[in-house]
Amino acid sequence: MLKIENLQVHYDKVQVIHDVSLEVNEGEIVTLIGSNGAGKTTLLRTISGIKRASGGSITFMGEPIHQMTSHKIVEMGIGHVPEGRHVFPDMSVYENLQMGAFRRKDSQAAIKKDLEHIFDLFPRLKERSQQMAGTMSGGEQQMLAIGRAIMAKPKLFLFDEPSLGIAPIIVAEIFKMIKKMNEEGSTILLVEQNANAALKISDRAYILETGKIGLEGQSSDLLNDDRVRKIYLGF
Ligand SMILES: Nc1ncnc2c1ncn2[C@@H]1O[C@H](COP(=O)(O)OP(=O)(O)O)[C@@H](O)[C@H]1O
Ligand SMILES: [Mg+2]
Repeated sequence: MLKIENLQVHYDKVQVIHDVSLEVNEGEIVTLIGSNGAGKTTLLRTISGIKRASGGSITFMGEPIHQMTSHKIVEMGIGHVPEGRHVFPDMSVYENLQMGAFRRKDSQAAIKKDLEHIFDLFPRLKERSQQMAGTMSGGEQQMLAIGRAIMAKPKLFLFDEPSLGIAPIIVAEIFKMIKKMNEEGSTILLVEQNANAALKISDRAYILETGKIGLEGQSSDLLNDDRVRKIYLGF
């Protein structure tokens, strides 16, 4: 579904992504793990067209997208939930979810059905549907950011550190949700520093080390890899 080949990305003269190749197949959760500053956010921003590649290619559903505008890439079906939960603080939960659907051309009935589905997935959002998004906790805002992305009905989700800065109990809930979305058919590229949780819910994983793929494989194998355990899992 997504194929990245020999990607190079620079900020001015500083290269931060070096020759990265990565694939996500339909139906998979693929996780990209890496320390702070490794280039994870840059990679997602490049996939969604916010940042331009300086070399290599990105193909989505068979079409090269690395020259497309971010607007067009959203239309192609890539939904990006950026780092740090960007909800509209002065709008209600309900209004934020509606905003997610504003590019959709299908019926109001279909949109309403998806809204109901999100409320099933995140009962917390249903309870708080009239609350202003800015007054919710960090974890609840993260759920809302994910819910809003679901409303856009993308073919591929990009999640940038959904667990960052969130209470552990809510983190568990969010990971469970991501797994459930996948079981229901969503394809997901998940960027995380929380390697343990990300490896447990994903099919395959790539480890990004200062802009290069250091290691890749089945998540279950990486969970048992000595080097991964030592550096990323801490045991
Ligand atoms: N807008 C920017 N301008 C210049 N350098 C940047 C910018 N954004 C990120 N960087 C640098 O690129 C590298 C990768 O950053 P980032 O993609 O945010 O990593 P991660 O998400 O893995 O923590 C870091 O060295 C960071 O300082
Ligand atoms: Mg980041």
